[in-house]
Amino acid sequence: MKSFNRTTVTAALPYANGPIHIGHLAGCYLPADIYVRYLRMLGQDVAFVCGSDEHGMAITMKARSENISPSVIVNRYNDMMRNSLDAFGVSFDIYSRTSSPKHAEVAQSFFRKLNEKGTLQVRETEQYYDPEAEQFLADRYITGTCPNCKSKNAYGDQCEKCGTTLSPLDLIDPKSTLSKATPVMKKTKNWFLPLDKLSPQIRSYIEGHPEWKSNVLGQCKSWLDSGEGLQPRSMTRDLDWGVPVPVEGAEGKVLYVWFDAPLGYITATQELHGDDWEKWWKSDDTRLVHFIGKDNIVFHAIIFPALLMEHGDYILPEDIPANEFLNLEGDKLSTSKNWAVWLHEYLEDFPGNQDALRYALCATMPEAKDNDFTWSDFQIRNNSELVAILGNLVNRVMVLNNKYYQGIVQEPGTSPSDAHLMASIAVHSGKVSDSLKAYRFREALTEAMNLARLGNKYLADEEPWKKMKTDPKRTAEIMGTVTQFIAAISGIFDPFIPFSAEKIRSMLGIGALLWSDLDGRTLLSPGSKISEPRLLFEKIEDHQVETQKAKLKKTS
Ligand code: 2FM
Ligand code: ZN
Repeated sequence: MKSFNRTTVTAALPYANGPIHIGHLAGCYLPADIYVRYLRMLGQDVAFVCGSDEHGMAITMKARSENISPSVIVNRYNDMMRNSLDAFGVSFDIYSRTSSPKHAEVAQSFFRKLNEKGTLQVRETEQYYDPEAEQFLADRYITGTCPNCKSKNAYGDQCEKCGTTLSPLDLIDPKSTLSKATPVMKKTKNWFLPLDKLSPQIRSYIEGHPEWKSNVLGQCKSWLDSGEGLQPRSMTRDLDWGVPVPVEGAEGKVLYVWFDAPLGYITATQELHGDDWEKWWKSDDTRLVHFIGKDNIVFHAIIFPALLMEHGDYILPEDIPANEFLNLEGDKLSTSKNWAVWLHEYLEDFPGNQDALRYALCATMPEAKDNDFTWSDFQIRNNSELVAILGNLVNRVMVLNNKYYQGIVQEPGTSPSDAHLMASIAVHSGKVSDSLKAYRFREALTEAMNLARLGNKYLADEEPWKKMKTDPKRTAEIMGTVTQFIAAISGIFDPFIPFSAEKIRSMLGIGALLWSDLDGRTLLSPGSKISEPRLLFEKIEDHQVETQKAKLKKTS
């Protein structure tokens, strides 16, 4: 069993070609943030790195559609994405970007090393070229008729009508999307990563991780075991937007976006830790974990590890807890059809209520299979769980403490029911912990809410509001106990709904907690004073849900 002293956690670098929506948050940034917040509460050393992915066709096509330069696009969305993620409490240690000069240096030096070692193979191939636009045409810049379903608008890499994976040469009657010209074949030279030759090492790396999530292993196996096996993949492109290929004879070419983007994690770590960065990537006692969506699995589980192995100085990803996709009201999220809930718009419609969305998305996270977000479910989760269970518990404790004792914290009791309630904290923090370690975020959240339910049951059984008249001494013990309990509850919920957890602690007048504090110990001193109650969660009304649903209909 390996032992680790620190964890490098990465969250997929989002393409800087549009705002962030709930699919991004539920698929990658929320689980990564919950996990990191939990590790930090364990007192572990963590570097949580992310940034914008600013190269590749996702960017150039968006720029072309608006008739502006790619740099305008990436500047616009880099800021917007950073702000949305920050507003939702995604607690990166650094949010960088891949268009920085520093990143070009990192990516170029990595490429040079692989080239000098002889890993990369230079190959001349014939590719489609647009004689009018004077440009080679990468996959999405060519359309034509699908050889399979005969749809007229298939792309060079895929037919979106029938889903068939294509190569540009498969298209019937190909046309350039740049000029509409008929492309011609032209020779070009590119640098290939020989994944076919590296296949045995990659296979043994993946087989060394039987503990990975089954959706991740399933995809890896189907790549490795597909009829033709892994194929060499070009690490360079004939494009004018990207990191220039730093070797002679490659003028006018850029690095493949999937070569440079994962190296963005390394650049970000260098920016974060300066000269001390290497231990986060090169030390055997560092655990490297990549949070991604399912469309990124092959790049993180096969191609990036192959690059790292060939380089030789780096550790390999220890885990890749990829999620599946989130749908919205039964349909695939789509940026182009505006079928999405955008984080910046949510913030306008539900100001200060980020935790309600964090909670609902965690509860419906597509961990093992695609899952559906609906506004009605969001309303039910908020009203019947956050408001009715957690909010109600905290509010009753705050109100009664203020009413009976002017906010002075009472000594907790020692009766069997008090001891039982306090013991349940350790039991549930253990369960939440086990689930989080296994990336089972939904289960972890359920266990946290089950603990809050126990608090409500304790109050319902003990009825301090009745006993206050007949047995004030016992009432004080009950209130002392349940006040300690809600302090612990704030710790257990901290990774999931950090804004509300912090609000509970600020009402109680205590600071941040460690996971080791969640064992039933006393967390606030009897005799200290807590504040007036403040509302933790607001009810979501039917009309708010209707407005959100109508907004979707209007723009689809
Ligand atoms: O799918 C995407 O949005 C990619 N931009 C993810 C890149 S992850 C990493 F490798 F940078
Ligand atoms: Zn087709």
